[in-house]
Amino acid sequence: MSITAVQSSESESIRVWNMKAFVYGGPGKYSLQDRPKPIVQAPGDAVIRMVKTTICGTDLHILKGDVPSCTPGRILGHEGIGIVDSVGTGVSSFVPGDRVLVSCISSCGKCEYCRKGMFSHCTTGGWILGNTIDGTQAEYVLTPHADTSLYHLPTGSDEDAMVMLSDILPTGFECGVLNGKVAPGCTVAIVGSGPIGLAALLTSQLYSPAQVIMIDLNLHRLEVAKRFGATATVVSSDPDATQQVLALTGGKGVDTAIEAVGIPDSFEFCQTIVAPGGTIANIGVHGKKADLHLENLWDRNVSITTRLVDTVSTPTLLNTVQSGKIDPNRLVTHHFKLSNITDAYDTFGKAADTHALKVIIEID
Ligand SMILES: NC(=O)c1ccc[n+]([C@@H]2O[C@H](COP(=O)([O-])OP(=O)(O)OC[C@H]3O[C@@H](n4cnc5c(N)ncnc54)[C@H](O)[C@@H]3O)[C@@H](O)[C@H]2O)c1
Ligand SMILES: [Zn+2]
Ligand SMILES: [Zn+2]
Repeated sequence: MSITAVQSSESESIRVWNMKAFVYGGPGKYSLQDRPKPIVQAPGDAVIRMVKTTICGTDLHILKGDVPSCTPGRILGHEGIGIVDSVGTGVSSFVPGDRVLVSCISSCGKCEYCRKGMFSHCTTGGWILGNTIDGTQAEYVLTPHADTSLYHLPTGSDEDAMVMLSDILPTGFECGVLNGKVAPGCTVAIVGSGPIGLAALLTSQLYSPAQVIMIDLNLHRLEVAKRFGATATVVSSDPDATQQVLALTGGKGVDTAIEAVGIPDSFEFCQTIVAPGGTIANIGVHGKKADLHLENLWDRNVSITTRLVDTVSTPTLLNTVQSGKIDPNRLVTHHFKLSNITDAYDTFGKAADTHALKVIIEID
């Protein structure tokens, strides 16, 4: 870390612009900049010295200008692990020096939604990191509601694997597997074999489904899916893709169809492969309207679920990963230093060519 500039403001006497951070500058614009190291402001805050972070598909949406709540000047990133640097007077579960997982969702633990386990809708939290407040793609990050939004890292845990627990593993598990009611002996199709679809594939296997059919346009990702335990793969651009899924399930369709892309086509495809009594569990972030074919579904007893990840399953998944039942490290394909984060974005953004799944950014 180098001290590069000094700025004064009315509210704070002197702020030293002494940390590197990846900053969104408006649609198509971004850069690694010098920014002030954050300082604790509220009693529940902690400042974390980041050790590793990563890039989410949602960060790419932000760079395209698809997420209006994230305004120019914002430090991006909502995933990662680090070491507690300082805490506010109200923080009782963490002390400086603790190694922690930063959750993509901040939760106060007290509001109406938090009391229901819907941390994603916390009235003073939710998905704010790297969205409405500065995020984790920096040397330091300020985390509000630290007691209820950070997790102690188990001793000796694999750091890269832990980074996958900030967002993609709970997202695949909660929005896909739990909402989709994956159960022993059932049939599952996951439409989209990106990091989120693959996280749903890994965590679905905790419930021993009879079949998990992975569906994507990208042949490389389907190969990866096979290595991760898919029982079959279907190329979604095949004109008979629906018939292939039906044939794999004796003509019935799947008990659980997980949508992990976020476009109208994939949601509508799920409607063609769900079995009577089945569930369509949507994970994808949709920017455009998608048709609901009630003329086909009205008599099929199906459920459709939507969810923003709550990260309520993070403690469970930490134990599951720590015990070796699932290995999210398999999702990590590339490593970069923070000084090369723009290369990391290039590599992640061209996943079809680079075969990137998750890229780890090492901060020091
Ligand atoms: N609900 C939540 O809380 C939450 C959290 C995180 C991410 N997400 C969303 O989940 C979705 C998946 O995230 P990701 O990081 O894996 O994205 P990604 O873009 O890396 O992967 C999407 C995959 O879908 C495939 N695809 C594209 N069109 C397809 C089609 N017609 N049929 C089948 N496959 C197709 C692509 O080839 C790609 O492999 C995104 O929409 C993301 O924004 C939701
Ligand atoms: Zn994310
Ligand atoms: Zn709350």
